[in-house]
Amino acid sequence: MGLYNDKVMDHFMHPRNVGEIPDADGTGVYGSPVCGDMMQVQIKVDDNDVITDCKFKTFGCGSAIASSSMATEMMKGKTVEEALKISNSTIVDELGGLPSQKLHCSVLADHAIKHAIYDYAQKTGKTYEGLKGFDPTDHGDIPDEDEAPEEV
Ligand code: FES
Repeated sequence: MGLYNDKVMDHFMHPRNVGEIPDADGTGVYGSPVCGDMMQVQIKVDDNDVITDCKFKTFGCGSAIASSSMATEMMKGKTVEEALKISNSTIVDELGGLPSQKLHCSVLADHAIKHAIYDYAQKTGKTYEGLKGFDPTDHGDIPDEDEAPEEV
C-alpha cells in the first residue's frame, strides 16, 4: 500500500464514534458532489455549550471513514464555537495527511460537522460566529427521496 499513513489506516480499520445518538441535539448530513459518498454527524451538547458526544455514519470510502473518525474525536470536549474552527485542513493535519485525490473526503466531514452544528443552532436559537457564511441549503449531492428510482 503506502498511499495512506498508519494513522489514517488506524482510523479506517478502527473508526472511533461510529453510530447514532438517539437523542442527538444536532444532526447533519452531507453528500459529496465529487463521488456521491454520504456522511451523517450527530452531536450532544451540554448546558455549557460543550460537545459531550459526537457520532457518525459514513457511506463512503476509507478516507471518508478515517476523516469522520478523526473529526468526531476532535469535536468531543470542545465548545460549539471551538468545534466550528475544525476544517477539512485541520482534519487532514491531524490525520498526518491524505493523498491529494482524497482531500475531498475530508471536505465531506467538514460540511457534515457544520450541518450538525447548524441544526443545533436552529433548535436552540443560538448564533455562532463560525457559522457566518455557511450555506444551510447546500447538502452536496444527497439523492432526493422523491427522485429515487422506483422499485420494479
Ligand atoms: Fe469521495 Fe472519499 S472518494 S468521500
